[in-house]
Amino acid sequence: MRTQVAIIGGGPSGLLLSQLLHRRGIDTVVLERKTRDYVLGRIRAGILESGFVELMREAGVGARMDAESFTHEGTVIAYGDEEFGINFREHTGTDVVVYGQTELTRDLYDAREAEGGKLVFNVENVVINDADSDAPFVTYTVDGVEQRLDCDYVAGCDGFHGVSRQTIPLTVRREYEKVYPFGWLGILSETPPVHDELIYSWSERGFALCSMRNANLSRYYIQCSLSDSPEDWSDENFWEELKRRIPARHAEALVTGPSIEKSIAPLRSFVTEPMRWGRLFLCGDAAHIVPPTGAKGLNTAASDIHYLDHGLVQFYEEGDAEGIDRYSEKALARIWKAERFSWATTNLLHRYPDQSEFDLKMQQAEIAFLRDSSAAQKVFAQNYVGLPY
Ligand code: APR
Ligand code: PHB
Repeated sequence: MRTQVAIIGGGPSGLLLSQLLHRRGIDTVVLERKTRDYVLGRIRAGILESGFVELMREAGVGARMDAESFTHEGTVIAYGDEEFGINFREHTGTDVVVYGQTELTRDLYDAREAEGGKLVFNVENVVINDADSDAPFVTYTVDGVEQRLDCDYVAGCDGFHGVSRQTIPLTVRREYEKVYPFGWLGILSETPPVHDELIYSWSERGFALCSMRNANLSRYYIQCSLSDSPEDWSDENFWEELKRRIPARHAEALVTGPSIEKSIAPLRSFVTEPMRWGRLFLCGDAAHIVPPTGAKGLNTAASDIHYLDHGLVQFYEEGDAEGIDRYSEKALARIWKAERFSWATTNLLHRYPDQSEFDLKMQQAEIAFLRDSSAAQKVFAQNYVGLPY
């Protein structure tokens, strides 16, 4: 088989790239290790920057998102029993959109399938060959039968545990990583959200986040120990702990119910450089990870796809390789700023096991500064709604 761009991974990054390139007449094949249902079963992020919203529309998959998503003009930061709001619209003229990654991925799958996109599921043993030559090809097996896909370019959209990043030799690749000494325990419940905006809450007992998917689907998180497992937490214990970590008025208003999903995610900051090696490009989680504080995971994937899509279109339509040659540099410049915001927001709001009294005072002073300074709120808002592409 032959295609122009071989895409490894059918998560949001791979599907969005495939869909955008298809609109410009560029042929792709998506190779996904799991099934569509498995990918859609993963509960992930839910906040979209306006840049992502525009990309979905550009890709022709914005209709359901536009009809069913919710616009958030700001967020709440709580600390102990106090709280204040940061208004994104007032500070930046933009807002963010609440639309679950599951829904967005479903829209992308539906569009690719309706338009006859080539998606291969259950692929195993994916190997990217000769990425540093003019004739790369990908080999893989399906049902034990080996297949070969020849291509012009390979987009590595296979997430943090994929093979694409590992294909870049260690003599070329440099990795930067920070692992945090805690995780997030998250639950999804069919209950109305406690508040109409998200609440990011610092508390003496650790961080908590009140988020949502729609009017009757809530997503809540509490900072937990890395040694915890979801089975250690009954729904009742979760709700009790959440209530202790948010201001009393919200704790009183909180509607609880059975969890329909419960999982723990470790927190990590990670970036690999460069994001291009020969004819292989890394996108999304394959190249970088952020801790979820600040909701940048999905949104950084979107900016990579924007840069790569533009670079490939420029190459195929105008014969100009400038965009693909500068892909890594452009993507990384934006990624590092999102890494900084996610890291700083994580540091601001979590309890650290080795935190000294001095460290605590610094955290409190930072929160007070954010509460009192319009300039600091503007900086937060600019980062939250997303830096320009
Ligand atoms: N071969 C083929 N597919 C693979 C391989 C492989 N060797 N390894 C992983 N995959 C698939 C995974 O099954 C997954 O569906 O690649 C896909 C990668 O998807 P994500 O991990 O969702 O990464 P990405 O598309 O970059 O999305 C980034 O979405 O999932 C969130 O936390 C993530 O918010 C971030 C954003
Ligand atoms: C979520 O709703 O899952 C969510 C929202 C905001 C974050 C992280 C996760 O910062």
